[in-house]
Amino acid sequence: MRILVCGGAGYIGSHACVTLCSRGHHVVIADSGVNSSPRVLQRLQRLVGAPVSLHRVDIRDRRAMAALFATYHFDAVLHFAALKAVGESCRKPLDYFDNNIGGTIALLQSMQEAGVRRLVFSSSATVYGDPSQVPVREDAGLQALNPYGRTKLVAEQLIEDLCRADDRFRAANLRYFNPVGAHPSGLIGEDPCGEPNNLMPYICQVAVGQRDHLRVFGGDYPTVDGTGVRDYIHVVDLAQAHADALEYMVSADRGFTVNLGTGRGISVLELVHAFERASGQRIPYEIVERRPGDSAEVFADPALAQQLLGWRAQYDVDAMCRDAWHWQAMNPQGYRSPLRRAAAPRVERPRRAVARLAGA
Ligand code: NAD
Ligand code: UD1
Repeated sequence: MRILVCGGAGYIGSHACVTLCSRGHHVVIADSGVNSSPRVLQRLQRLVGAPVSLHRVDIRDRRAMAALFATYHFDAVLHFAALKAVGESCRKPLDYFDNNIGGTIALLQSMQEAGVRRLVFSSSATVYGDPSQVPVREDAGLQALNPYGRTKLVAEQLIEDLCRADDRFRAANLRYFNPVGAHPSGLIGEDPCGEPNNLMPYICQVAVGQRDHLRVFGGDYPTVDGTGVRDYIHVVDLAQAHADALEYMVSADRGFTVNLGTGRGISVLELVHAFERASGQRIPYEIVERRPGDSAEVFADPALAQQLLGWRAQYDVDAMCRDAWHWQAMNPQGYRSPLRRAAAPRVERPRRAVARLAGA
């Protein structure tokens, strides 16, 4: 298939492009560059062994999008293009509504105009809010706890309404749990701007010495060790799921909504210790107050994805940590780093002493 990948220069989209190309699909990327580096293109081309088209286009730019649809005659669209920082969304809700909701509406209009009726949408476990039960099934109650979460919920609803209005339109809503890790080559990975919001990139930056220590948000949750539990999923597993979802949507000629997670909950400290084992680096941490809006425990019931798509996560937490570390060690400054040939040696660097308040 010829596939338009909106937001394909970003973290998850770039991995999905590699998988799609490896299955013989042809990808064209549209990315505004708001949270991506143009350097990803060279890395992607190295990985897929062929030229990849990357267009610097905002999905809200209807003229530029119309030109893309006219040039390439796409069979389907993968829609990763969104802003994703929860804290920033609370400070700048209108930017999030404009980019994520406005962007989705504009993209759907461009698709409709071009007669393209297959969409795979990057949704999030955030649509479950603070789930009342774990593992979380797709039929659990939905709730937005912040403006970012609202954009995902609204986008899902817009897409559902469009499917009702146009019985030829097919959409797959993929609700990701906590994507982590990187391509095993170390060529592409997660490259957050500024201070990372999420746990794994923060651990990685501590490991390469860019941050002093990790702050663990809360040590008194009713969980295995008092720290928050999440369902971390390797980004390569997630990428495979996109290709499976698209291929299933075409062969079964139906839309669907599925969770993408491993079904296994991992605590913050379990992840820290797994990372230490995988990297040989010590990750100093201190336990601080809970982060407002956090849940104690969120993990997926991934049975529906297995039943419909035949998809199941293959990588365990050790592989997630190994590949996250490999990427970070090869690219300490993300895409700003000149690519190193091999992983950085395991050097213990002097650190400021940090109290380890638990699990030392
Ligand atoms: P990312 O920021 O790395 O990738 C998003 C890409 O979209 C970036 O390259 C950015 O430049 C581009 N973009 C943003 N707005 C755009 C616009 N209007 N037009 C064109 N391009 C635009 O994020 P990611 O982690 O790869 O996430 C991909 C998708 O998955 C997002 O929709 C995100 O909300 C969703 N998601 C991510 C996570 C996660 O933890 N990473 C979890 C659940 C859902
Ligand atoms: C966050 C977002 C959620 C989004 C998801 C994936 C919030 C409130 N929620 O969820 O909307 O869908 O990312 O992008 O931001 N932690 C620390 N120290 C840190 C960072 C995180 O202890 O420096 C802990 C958190 O308290 C949590 C776990 O690590 O228990 C995972 O956090 P994070 O990676 O931010 O993911 P989520 O909380 O699942």
